[in-house]
This record gives sequence, structure tokens and C-alpha cells, in this order.
Amino acid sequence: MTARDYLTIDDFDVDGKTILVRVDLNVPMDPEENILDDMRIKSHIPTLEDLEDAKVVLLAHQSRAGKSDFTTMKPHAQRMSAYLGKEVEYVDDIFGSHAGSRIASMEKGDVLLLENVRFYSEESLKRPAKEHAQTHMVKKLAPLVDIFLNDAFAVSHRSQLSITGFSEVLPSGAGRVMEKEITSLDKGLKGSECPCIFVLGGAKVDDSLKVAENVLSNESADRMLLTGVVANVVLAANGVDIGKVNMDFIESQGYLDQIERGEQILDEYDGNIGLPVDVALNDGGKRVEVLVDELPADGFPINDIGIETIVAYSKEIRNAKTVVLNGPAGLSELDPFALGTHEIIKAAVHSDYSIAGGGHISAEIRNLGYDDRFSHLSTGGGACIDYLAGMSLPGIEALKDAASRYRHNQ
Ligand code: 3PG
Repeated sequence: MTARDYLTIDDFDVDGKTILVRVDLNVPMDPEENILDDMRIKSHIPTLEDLEDAKVVLLAHQSRAGKSDFTTMKPHAQRMSAYLGKEVEYVDDIFGSHAGSRIASMEKGDVLLLENVRFYSEESLKRPAKEHAQTHMVKKLAPLVDIFLNDAFAVSHRSQLSITGFSEVLPSGAGRVMEKEITSLDKGLKGSECPCIFVLGGAKVDDSLKVAENVLSNESADRMLLTGVVANVVLAANGVDIGKVNMDFIESQGYLDQIERGEQILDEYDGNIGLPVDVALNDGGKRVEVLVDELPADGFPINDIGIETIVAYSKEIRNAKTVVLNGPAGLSELDPFALGTHEIIKAAVHSDYSIAGGGHISAEIRNLGYDDRFSHLSTGGGACIDYLAGMSLPGIEALKDAASRYRHNQ
């Protein structure tokens, strides 16, 4: 994509203007609402610095309805204030009269952060941009602002209201995070030399399998190494008895139907997919290595890939020219089960171009002090791999449409 496909902050006179900026501040939080990793919050500071002469209204989400960390944006505003060196005011309203009056009384240099946009249930509906533009949220907020910027690359693979709705009705462009992501990921794609390996992990099984299908069918990857919950699902699809506790977990996450999808992927791309040959079980916090063929039916939860798998995967990863890591290999927040994730990270930095996406794995990379050794650490998880898989991202498509409309009207 060329920079001319979409507009950026440089295309607008932002002085004194009210700018609505969709940011991605979705961060891991503990039950006491402490922020465990603030990379995403920090990432938006350059955008805010370039808008210092504007009035900035931030719109963001935290987690998803039903999850324990689905909470308000107050802690995020506090953390952002500390990084920005001035107050980012938290407003506990999205588009009601309280938000409206606060926006209307803003002064140049002010920054507001509105409430968790996913508290409004219509936000999470997957609908075309034109329908989103007809919602109360867009009708109430759009008249109060001059420009919309999408800086939320990490959620731009979702056709959600705050991602695509505003660019239908407002002059719109990309913030600095969005620009950097597009430029860096395009560089990775252009330079992507064979062999190119995707290492998929984490718990978003449906997203990972969608990417596996895309990347293998359009040949943007030569190999796909599976770890994490997605590996367990595909092991089950391959006829391995992963044990009741692990099947129950897959069911509790709503992923039982993904087993059939895993079977189809194995039928079509068997030779391109790497699966764990052994795993680490969590026996009361203790790491127990077991071959997948010897997993007990009534055993313990699988919390990491096993040592033999780590050795085999690391060898493949070290020999790759391009490596894309997405999602941790296991429960990396528990020391005994961080081994797989850490060894994969250490192997990946040997490739010519290394990209990592997703909050958990990026946090581990920073914990290890390896952030400077990666070619690009994406703020996106699903968005990053969708982009690299050549899929069009609704949030980016909306910016392209907005750029054509803006130029046409100039
Ligand atoms: C992410 O964490 O990947 C983004 O914030 C998107 O979140 P979602 O997967 O809940 O839509």
C-alpha cells in the first residue's frame, strides 16, 4: 500500500480543531484492574504529541463483554496522562449529554478519553460502514468534531462501529501508529524471503485457524508451526486424545466446532503444518513433560509445548528467512510454562525479518529485553496476521474510501 492510499495527520490543518481519534488501549489487566503491560497505551503518544495544538477526543475499548477485564477506561487515562505529561481526562460517558458537554467546552491542547466504547452493545455488531454511520453514536459524536483519525490498527480487522462508522461522514485519516504498522508490515511482506514461517499460538483459535487457511492457500507462508490452544484443537482434529480437562477447556471457550475446521486444514495442508510432539502439563504448578501420544485421558491441563517440540521448532525457526510470531506458546505468565514462548522468541531473532504480534508475546519479548532485536513489534495480534495474510482490513479499507472521497471533494 502506498502512503497516498490513505490520508495522515500531515494532510490536515489540525490547529484548534476537534479531532476524534480511535485508539487501541486494550491491555492485559489483573482482577484488581492493574495494567500488566502498557505498550499499546505508550504507542499512541507520538500521535497525541503531533496533535498538541488540537482538541483531542479519544475513543477506545477494553476487552470484550463477559470477560473479567471488561472494565472502564479510567486506569488507561491515568497511565496515558503519565506518559503524555499532561492530563488525559477520563469521561465516564460515550456519546450522551455528559460527553457532549465536555467535548463542547474543550480548549486547545485538551485531551479527553471517553468510556469503553464496547459498553455500547452496537459497537460490537459486524456491519457495513454505511450502516454504522447511521447509529446514534456516529450521529451524536460526529457533529461535535472536525476530523476522525483511526490509530487503532490492532482492532482494524473488525468491521465495528467506531472503526468504520465515522470515516463515512468525517474527513478521516491514519494516526501515527496506523502509519507505522502499515509501513513496517509492508516492508516485511516485500522482503519476505523463503522460507517464511508463521508460528501461531495464544487462545483466539478461530482467528488463528482463519489465518492458517489464508496464509497457506495464498502461499504467503511455507510453514505454519502451531502452539498454544490452537495446537490443542488441531491435535484433537488429528485424532490425538488430549485429555478431558483440555477438551473441556476448548468447549468452555466455544471452540469445539473449530476441531472440524482443523481436520479440513490438515487434509489440505498437512505437510505445511507443524504440530507439537510433546507438551508440558501443569501438575499443581509443576511442569510435567509428556509425549502427545501418551497423554493421559484424565490428566492435567496442557500449559506449554514440550522440550522436544521446542528443540524441533527452534531449529526450523532459526533456518527461516522471515518469521512471524503471533500469540504465546503456553501460559507464559506462569514461570514454568514460559519456556516454549521464550525459546521461540530467542530463535526468531536469528531470521532476516522478524515480526511479532499480539499483546502477550510482545510483553514477553520486552521482558526478555529482545524488543530491539525484532524487525517489528506490532501492536496488533489478529490485525497483524490478517494483514500479513493479505486480507483486507475493514478499518484500513474505510480510510482508503475516506481518502478518495476527500480528494474528490477538494
Ligand atoms: C486485540 O487485543 O487484538 C484488539 O484490541 C482487538 O480485540 P478483540 O479481539 O477483542 O476484538
